[in-house]
Amino acid sequence: MKILVTGGAGYIGSHTVLTLLEKGHEVEVVDNYDNSSPESIRRVERLTGGSVVLHEFDLREEERLTELFATGAYDAVIHFAGLKAVGESVAEPALYYGTNLESTLSLVRAMAASATRTLVFSSSATVYGERAQVPYVEAYEPLEANNPYGKTKVMIEHILGDLAAADDSWRIGLLRYFNPVGAHPSGEIGEDPAGIPNNLTPYISQVAVGRLASLGVFGDDYDTPDGTGLRDYIHVMDLAEGHVVALEHLAASPGIGARAWNLGTGTGTSVLEVVAAFEKASGVEIPYEVKPRRAGDLARSYADASRAKDELGWVATRGIDEMCADAWRWQSQNPQGYRA
Ligand code: NAD
Ligand code: WQD
Repeated sequence: MKILVTGGAGYIGSHTVLTLLEKGHEVEVVDNYDNSSPESIRRVERLTGGSVVLHEFDLREEERLTELFATGAYDAVIHFAGLKAVGESVAEPALYYGTNLESTLSLVRAMAASATRTLVFSSSATVYGERAQVPYVEAYEPLEANNPYGKTKVMIEHILGDLAAADDSWRIGLLRYFNPVGAHPSGEIGEDPAGIPNNLTPYISQVAVGRLASLGVFGDDYDTPDGTGLRDYIHVMDLAEGHVVALEHLAASPGIGARAWNLGTGTGTSVLEVVAAFEKASGVEIPYEVKPRRAGDLARSYADASRAKDELGWVATRGIDEMCADAWRWQSQNPQGYRA
């Protein structure tokens, strides 16, 4: 298939582009490098021996996107592009609603003006909100989120669902990722957050490599076995493979409409268990201090992963030790990320 990947130079995008190339697909990327650099794609090309056509522009430039679809003859689109920092979204809601919603609307209008109707969207476990019970099942309603970033995911799921309901030529996969971590086993590509990381494993990696002094553990008084938050960490390579099988499933499923799949392992791992696994993988002690709970955090979040298994034949195969070993290989080989 010929696939257009938006945000393909980013963390999950670059690993998915690599997996698509390895499976023999043709790939083009649109990215404005707002949170990435073309270096990730250059490394993907080196690792795979493949080549990727890069289009550098903002998805909100709808005319350019429409031109691309007029000539591209894409079989499908994977839509990763967007802003993703929860705290920043609370401080700058207009930026988040503007970027994430306008980019997606621009994309679906450009697709509607072409023959391409197959779309995989990066949704998030955040759409289950604070009231759903673990393990989260896709049929749960109503979707809700407690911050502007998460609300853009809920809104986009509704927009894409409405599109598919209005026109049955659309085939849309809504992939609800849990907590993506790890890196390609080569250590050549990985997660490279700008500034101080918001997420747990990049923060731990930067402590291990000496860029940060100590980890703050946000709360040890949750109702969980060791008091720290439980999350469903999923290896980014498992996630990348999930995109490919979702695309293949959509390609074989006329009339499917919009369908949600959780991409998670189905198990919760605590903050202290991640710290221990990372110490084991790296051989480096991670100093930490317990801090107050972070606003908006849940005690636990993990998937019921059975729908993806039953319908896509997909299960996550890599555990927390492999996630930490691969994250460490990337971080130790690239202490300053792609900027080195
Ligand atoms: P990322 O920031 O590494 O990748 C996003 C990419 O999109 C970047 O390369 C960025 O430059 C590009 N981009 C952003 N706005 C753009 C625009 N207007 N036009 C063109 N390009 C633009 O993030 P990621 O972690 O790879 O996440 C990819 C997607 O998955 C996002 O939609 C994110 O919300 C979603 N997601 C991520 C996580 C996570 O924890 N990483 C969890 C659930 C869902
Ligand atoms: C994991 C656990 C923290 C940092 C976020 C978004 C979510 C999704 C994935 C996109 C929690 C604890 C963290 C630290 C800590 N993104 N922690 N010290 O919050 O589950 O999910 O990323 O859709 O929308 O909210 O991930 O990695 O930030 O936190 O103790 O310095 O680690 O409290 O228990 P989270 P995270």
